[in-house]
Amino acid sequence: MEILTAAITGVGGYVPEYRLTNKILETMVDTTDEWIKTRTGVEERRILKGEGLGTSDMGMEAVKNLCEKRGIDPAEIDCLICATVTPDMLFPATANIICDKAGIKNAFSFDVEAACSGFLFALTTGAALIECGRYKKVVIVGADKMSSIVDYTDRTTCVIFGDGAGAVLLEPSKDDNGIKDSLLKSDGSGKQFLHMKAGGSLKPASIETVAAKEHFIFQEGSSVFKFAVKGMADVSFELMEKNNLKGEDIAWLVPHQANLRIIDATASRAGIPKEKVMINIQKYGNTTGATIPLCLWDWESQLKKGDNIILAAFGGGFTWGATWIKWAYDTK
Ligand code: UT7
Repeated sequence: MEILTAAITGVGGYVPEYRLTNKILETMVDTTDEWIKTRTGVEERRILKGEGLGTSDMGMEAVKNLCEKRGIDPAEIDCLICATVTPDMLFPATANIICDKAGIKNAFSFDVEAACSGFLFALTTGAALIECGRYKKVVIVGADKMSSIVDYTDRTTCVIFGDGAGAVLLEPSKDDNGIKDSLLKSDGSGKQFLHMKAGGSLKPASIETVAAKEHFIFQEGSSVFKFAVKGMADVSFELMEKNNLKGEDIAWLVPHQANLRIIDATASRAGIPKEKVMINIQKYGNTTGATIPLCLWDWESQLKKGDNIILAAFGGGFTWGATWIKWAYDTK
């Protein structure tokens, strides 16, 4: 069977309107705008407000935006994969709900759970579906309503996270451009540092788990920070070395937006100057599965056909990885 290359051929995104600024957070927990900006880089984050709205609603908006921009009928989509840690429900998959809401009637769909690396894991999975030649249009969504699992009395986590969704379309490449290579890694022993204690099969929800605030994010920030700096920088460097790429060959680094200091360390290890690094953490905070597609959404008009782009992520699990893309289109 002919091996095809999968290319990103469209980008969509959505962020909620409400802006939770550092100034507002100063009134909620013992923190300062100065601390948040210097330790994380975040200035504000978007929060999905309103009863009955979940991750699928933001994912649906991102997919609709993608289809409208590309002039695609949702019925043409063969498969949709959603990367999220904040599914609408434990089951069914949020991907299925997005398809239902977005009028995607002829696709199979499923979720991928790899925390902040979820978008890269889903992208690599989706690319394989194109590469095998059986599917022509695969949509990858990264979407998270982090505000649904953040404890807004915990200053160590509530300043970091935000809500949002991004989506990309994968199609068979018409030329040499597309997704060229990926290195993805997991280490389950890292779960102790970043997890949610209750609500799964290990510790089902109970009055006690709710009272103990065990349905919120638990993070040992400084431990995760050390692993993230090393993991994201090393894997980006390894991927570039494997493919004989030097810093000067790279048009853009698209790092997961967890902390500006982690982003800076990754860029420096890869030899990529700051002006070639997509950074929007100041606007959106850490939107987990959505950070990388939201960067592509914000920068799409500046991307040129043939640009070498490195996507890089590190997240809970631990999971981490990097992907090398040759961008497939110029935006008109
Ligand atoms: O995306 C998924 C993966 N996650 C990450 O990559 C996150 C990685 N970790 C981080 O980004 C950082 O560790 C944090 C931003 C979470 C924390 O920054 P830090 O520089 O590592 O701070 P720390 O945890 O070492 O805490 C230093 C001090 C502590 O006070 P003491 O014990 O020195 O008195 C904290 O209590 O900063 C304090 N602190 C705060 N102070 C003001 C922690 N959070 C805050 C806050 N405002 N919001």
